[in-house]
Amino acid sequence: MKHLVSIRDLTRESAHALLTLAQEMSQVNERSIKKLPTLRGRTVVNLFFENSTRTRVSFEIAAKRLSADVINVAAETSSVSKGESLKDTAQTLEALGADCIVLRHPSSGAAQQLAGMGWIGASVINAGDGTHEHPTQALLDALTMQQTFGQDLSSLRVLIVGDIKHSRVARSNVLLLTLLGAKVELAGPESLLPKELGALGASVSHNLDDSLVSQPDVVMMLRVQRERMVENFQADESEYIKQWGLSRARLATLSNQAIIMHPGPINRGLEISPEAAEHPRSKILEQVKNGLAVRMAVLYQVLSEEA
Ligand code: CP
Repeated sequence: MKHLVSIRDLTRESAHALLTLAQEMSQVNERSIKKLPTLRGRTVVNLFFENSTRTRVSFEIAAKRLSADVINVAAETSSVSKGESLKDTAQTLEALGADCIVLRHPSSGAAQQLAGMGWIGASVINAGDGTHEHPTQALLDALTMQQTFGQDLSSLRVLIVGDIKHSRVARSNVLLLTLLGAKVELAGPESLLPKELGALGASVSHNLDDSLVSQPDVVMMLRVQRERMVENFQADESEYIKQWGLSRARLATLSNQAIIMHPGPINRGLEISPEAAEHPRSKILEQVKNGLAVRMAVLYQVLSEEA
């Protein structure tokens, strides 16, 4: 695997293999010495044009655990702020020795452009591009589901709720979970749930309470992405909480086996109540932890001579 730009880069077999490797990496992370020599001499650059806590930090720790050199570049403190293009920035980083560029960018398709235009020979990993995809998030979500329900996700019913329109997490999750055989339902207001997502293989609902009646195994709440909304969302917040928030009352309708997920960062009290975020069945911090193992697996696959 040279690049990971989209879940579409994976087959069912390669996705399972990556998840198995990630599970092995999570065992490395339980050891007292959490380090492998695999990527010694390789250089990973985290090039982030958007803010991030989980993805950026976990890619940095993942690269260090595999003994790679790792450099973090935030676009606003780089020469991007002087007008340098993505192409020139990437070529500069490669000239400085980058073997892999982990890219977060506000434009959908930026990672594909960087991987496919022939500008650089380095590998490209998509760490989130606009509203398009966030493949390592979907992989860490699938790993979290496997750890709860077992490796075979083909009988799993996953409900993804909220601001689907702006969510690269939702797109990557629909692609990966349907590839692995799970049944996915998307629930959100019509204004935040574009019809074309149904064509990816998920069913679509515009009523959360109706969707909860069928007792999904996984309820994945999505962050309301105010920063991507053209219109001001403020006035609609109380209505959103009423219609789409995972409230204490809705929490009580879930089966005892169901898990609650959220990619983070959460808008506490908006799409998810504090009771839901901190519920014993909430996997939010497990997801964060699994991000490290998944990113180790992806870096290994992309950069290791042995992979
Ligand atoms: N889930 C996620 O991508 O979080 P960050 O924006 O903090 O990386």
